[in-house]
Amino acid sequence: MNRKFWLTLARRFTPKLYAARRLVELDDIEVQRKRAHSLMHIAPDANARLGVAFDGETFRNLDDRAVFTMLQNVAVDPIMQQLDRMERLLIAAGPSGAQKAAEMLPAQSDLALSPLPQYVTLANLCQRYNFAPSYHNILLGETVNQVTGKLELLSGDMENFVHALVTGMTGYGKSWQLKAMAKQLVVAGDCDLAFVDYGVNTFGRMARHGLYPIADTPEMTIALFRVLVQEMHRRREAMAEYPEVEKLSQYNQVTGDTMRPIVLFCDEASVLFDKSSEIRGLARDLTGMGRKYGIGCAFGGTDMKVTTMPSETRGNCGLRMALCLAEPQLSRSIIHSTAAVNLSDKGRALMRLPGIAGLFEVQCPVVENWSDLPGEREQITLQPEQQTDRKRILDLHEQGMSKRQISQAVYGYAGGAAHGKVNEILSGTTVSDE
Ligand SMILES: Nc1ncnc2c1ncn2[C@@H]1O[C@H](COP(=O)(O)OP(=O)(O)O)[C@@H](O)[C@H]1O
Ligand SMILES: [Mg+2]
Repeated sequence: MNRKFWLTLARRFTPKLYAARRLVELDDIEVQRKRAHSLMHIAPDANARLGVAFDGETFRNLDDRAVFTMLQNVAVDPIMQQLDRMERLLIAAGPSGAQKAAEMLPAQSDLALSPLPQYVTLANLCQRYNFAPSYHNILLGETVNQVTGKLELLSGDMENFVHALVTGMTGYGKSWQLKAMAKQLVVAGDCDLAFVDYGVNTFGRMARHGLYPIADTPEMTIALFRVLVQEMHRRREAMAEYPEVEKLSQYNQVTGDTMRPIVLFCDEASVLFDKSSEIRGLARDLTGMGRKYGIGCAFGGTDMKVTTMPSETRGNCGLRMALCLAEPQLSRSIIHSTAAVNLSDKGRALMRLPGIAGLFEVQCPVVENWSDLPGEREQITLQPEQQTDRKRILDLHEQGMSKRQISQAVYGYAGGAAHGKVNEILSGTTVSDE
């Protein structure tokens, strides 16, 4: 039986109830009419700004096309944003003015953005885009071009990023993104790698492809960081003769040398940084000077707050990636925007690249195929030497060496973390600084 039948019945037998219901309905229609009217007739204020409209569910900032709900902090309507951007571009570019520009705009239906996929594999992306990853062109994921609305790859030069930071709540794909980046570099074979993997076994498949065995304890991490700091100082000496050289690739070009870039991948860096001030100090040294000498770090960590990762270290990370985060402040401190709190898919990240304004929303690639790894390589084994360092420092001090000489002898360089360490061990003894 249809609705009309019941309504007729209701009108006959409960006329009062029926009348009341009609009134409510009419009221509702009036409210909706008013709401539509108010949305259509919003006058700009004195500064020509349009203000915020509310349609009963979402708030819409009519100036920047941002959309808010009571529950979600900030979302951006991508189609509106894209239309807006194109409109501005056309107005700015065209001689025929706004009227012509408006005519040239495609209909909104033509603009449907290609939605980002929720799952892409590294192999599939490389095949579809005919892309061969390398140190100078590493693939970060798939993104939507904001002008054309089409899917495209986001990639970049590790020499340009130097250091990278991947953050996000546990379980959203930090380790997988580090793994995808590392695997590309292992296969490309155009740089050396080092791995720190504290308890999570992210890089296990590439264990025999690093320059050194995977560092999986804080002690080994310290040993590895020190060796890299030493390597950096060795490179500094070699490059000192060429003051005009700013990058490793330039140095190689000028001298004909083949010094290889090194990328240190470090998962769960926030845990390690919280554990040891020495690791924090060494990471600061590495990220502070690595740029020129082709030694880069890619850190993954859940809680990269300022007390965990010194802001200097963070500041040196050219490439920043945030997967879903719970805390807006954390998101802001990494990518200068709170928007990572609105991400919800695994492997979906907001990325900030050096020298490029704005954020890229990217679906990170998953590595499914490991059969194309090259043969294992010979590795340099490092001994954790924390205990013996103390003894050596005290011995050398006994022999009358200065702090600077001791730093040089034990750590291969003076200043920075080495100086701090020597200071710490010798505190309370009398010794000359030079
Ligand atoms: N790029 C991705 N695309 C789709 N799913 C992913 C992606 N990266 C990770 N995941 C899913 O999320 C889970 C957790 O990823 P993981 O990298 O271990 O997270 P985290 O290191 O941030 O804790 C994976 O087991 C996988 O199921
Ligand atoms: Mg992880």
